[in-house]
Amino acid sequence: MKIKKVGVVGCGLMGAGIAEVTAAAGYETVVREVSEDQLEKGMARIRKSLDRGVEKGKVEPAEREAALGRLKGAVDLADLAGCDLVVEAIVENLDEKQKTFRNLDQVLGETAILASNTSSLTITQLAVSTTRPDRFVGLHFFNPVPVMQLVEVVRTLLTSQAAFDTAFEFCRSLGKEPVECKDNSGFIVNRLLVPYLLDAIRAYEEGVGSLEDIDKGMKLGTGHPMGPFTLLDFVGLDTTYYIANIMFEEYREKRFAPPPLLKQMVQAGRLGRKSGRGFYEYGK
Ligand code: CAA
Ligand code: NAD
Repeated sequence: MKIKKVGVVGCGLMGAGIAEVTAAAGYETVVREVSEDQLEKGMARIRKSLDRGVEKGKVEPAEREAALGRLKGAVDLADLAGCDLVVEAIVENLDEKQKTFRNLDQVLGETAILASNTSSLTITQLAVSTTRPDRFVGLHFFNPVPVMQLVEVVRTLLTSQAAFDTAFEFCRSLGKEPVECKDNSGFIVNRLLVPYLLDAIRAYEEGVGSLEDIDKGMKLGTGHPMGPFTLLDFVGLDTTYYIANIMFEEYREKRFAPPPLLKQMVQAGRLGRKSGRGFYEYGK
């Protein structure tokens, strides 16, 4: 299965990053959002990230132009028809994802591969909502996508070897370091990282330290590039809340349960960097 044209559904924090790296790696890329307004916001995110890459000397100006030249925006899902691989990166919601994959299944060619960037849903339940569970994988990228090397490539009991190998090589062609994962909720990294992030909120609720000191402790004491609260704001508190509920539903263990403070912050619209305020304030 040769991949020439890539589709990305969702152009939020992750979809924008995935579309950026596939276009930068030389693939014709179509990225779909729910509205022109959301699409423009996502495309602006991609341009800003490419500018940052140029500033940091990681991206040549000509590469920036070439990547943008390979990138097309869409609102109509049918515009993804000619894609050989489509990566979904929409809101962490099972119904929304299943609906999207059912629609994609109708518009894509026979051999096209479907992938989800989900953090915590199992891939099997997404795959069986399509007619192509053998050509369905998880491709779990990490935030920020242009910088983080890891991609978790998830195979289900139904994924064909050919589809898995194609997806795995595709990640390598992006300059990423793929690892193979079983289809358990949270795969490898989030199975370990999500309890840690939720425990940080519980520790703060118990008063073990200030937000700043807990962050400082994990940065200076263990070498983390970001403390847990900075990272939670970076990932998005809404996404973290959805992930926690999904993993708690799957494992039924307290360590995956969303702390009351997280729920209150999401309900109050304090979503982290994406809304200008989470545990910390970020201005507009
Ligand atoms: N394009 C290309 N390269 C870029 C770039 C861009 N847009 N922006 C930054 N870079 C490069 C920089 O050049 C720099 O490269 P060198 O180290 O080779 O010089 C590197 O990336 C680091 O960038 P900065 O120095 O500008 O920024 P920083 O030091 O503040 O690091 C960070 C920023 C990379 C985000 C770092 O803080 C970090 O790694 N944080 C942790 C992120 C993390 O844990 N992500 C996983 C979240 S969990 C998840 O994603 C899974 C889920 O399902 C929720
Ligand atoms: P986000 O809220 O930043 O973006 C989600 C985007 O999906 C929004 O722009 C929204 O308009 C769009 N969307 C919703 N329904 C859609 C549809 N039917 N068609 C097209 N677009 C639609 O969320 P995010 O942080 O980018 O997360 C997206 C996915 O990636 C989730 O499954 C999440 O679990 C996963 N993920 C997130 C991170 C992270 O650090 N945020 C890391 C890895 C994986």
